[in-house]
Amino acid sequence: MPTESKPRVLSGIQPTADSFHFGNYFGAIRQWPTFQHDHDAFYCVVDLHAITVEYDPAALRERTYRSVAQLIAAGIDPEHSALFIQSHVPQHAQLAWVLNCITGFGEAGRMTQFKDKSAKSGSDRTSVGLFTYPILQAADILIYQADQVPIGEDQRQHLELTRDLAGRFNHRFGKTFTVPQPYIVKSMAKILDLQDPTAKMSKSASAPSGIIDLLEDPRKAAKKIRSAVTDSGSEIRFDEENKPGISNLLTIYSALTGSPVAVIEKEYEGQQYGQFKVALSELVADFVGPFGERTNELLADRAELDRILKSGADKAKAVATQTLALVYDRLGFVL
Ligand code: TRP
Repeated sequence: MPTESKPRVLSGIQPTADSFHFGNYFGAIRQWPTFQHDHDAFYCVVDLHAITVEYDPAALRERTYRSVAQLIAAGIDPEHSALFIQSHVPQHAQLAWVLNCITGFGEAGRMTQFKDKSAKSGSDRTSVGLFTYPILQAADILIYQADQVPIGEDQRQHLELTRDLAGRFNHRFGKTFTVPQPYIVKSMAKILDLQDPTAKMSKSASAPSGIIDLLEDPRKAAKKIRSAVTDSGSEIRFDEENKPGISNLLTIYSALTGSPVAVIEKEYEGQQYGQFKVALSELVADFVGPFGERTNELLADRAELDRILKSGADKAKAVATQTLALVYDRLGFVL
């Protein structure tokens, strides 16, 4: 049960794909369930963020349910964490407006993720929503007075902005927000593209053969591992610079088994890439098979998912309403 003394964590993930992939899972999602007993945990599927770029409404709705089901299959227990959909808690958008008004235009323009994404589509097709995306993210965090935010390294700049905005608001209007800490675990595995192991595994950048989805057919997933690019030489040794392919596979092996890379290297000493890949492909299939089954079971009962989401949104709203009331008071709004 959440108590006042437990530190609060919040994190969010976009429902922009039919399935999360190994990069999302081993780089972020996997650690979410670890907070739910000694923290007061809030996890949201950020649909408001998902509409900042072009998208299909029917796909968004389906992907939102799929995201929720995968998070539960990944170990988030809705009895212990508040698991909810961002748009179910209107206070996120309400606080985002307030934060928009204390963010500098230049400050927002320095966000590297925005610069990268907008460079791809050109300024007329880039929405203002994409520009203010990090400010909505700050609202997601600050509305819960989160102490810690588990995120990947790529979100560090957004967290810095969040901290700046919290500090600025507190300074100008009086202490209102908890200034959150990023929780970026160095040991979280960074999973690379199986076909181009110098790039991150990414839905937008990788070819399908470079990605393993959590909801992938186990046989296809195994095949992708067996066809992953490996490096010249034959030694199974972790060396990111000279052997990025085999190093990435060692990272996946270690993430799946919990064995340290050094132990795995010892175990496969003297063996060929092929043997190692076969062993890893079986581990991968044994992981995605049950994961997919569990997710599909959850997806088969939408009414139950709706019930879980309603209860999550209720828990979230209880906190968000209080923060917003305090913010409106501090701002000088007539209450
Ligand atoms: N921008 C984050 C990502 O792409 C998703 C996100 C939205 C988020 N709101 C958040 C993460 C709040 C942490 C906290 O990964």
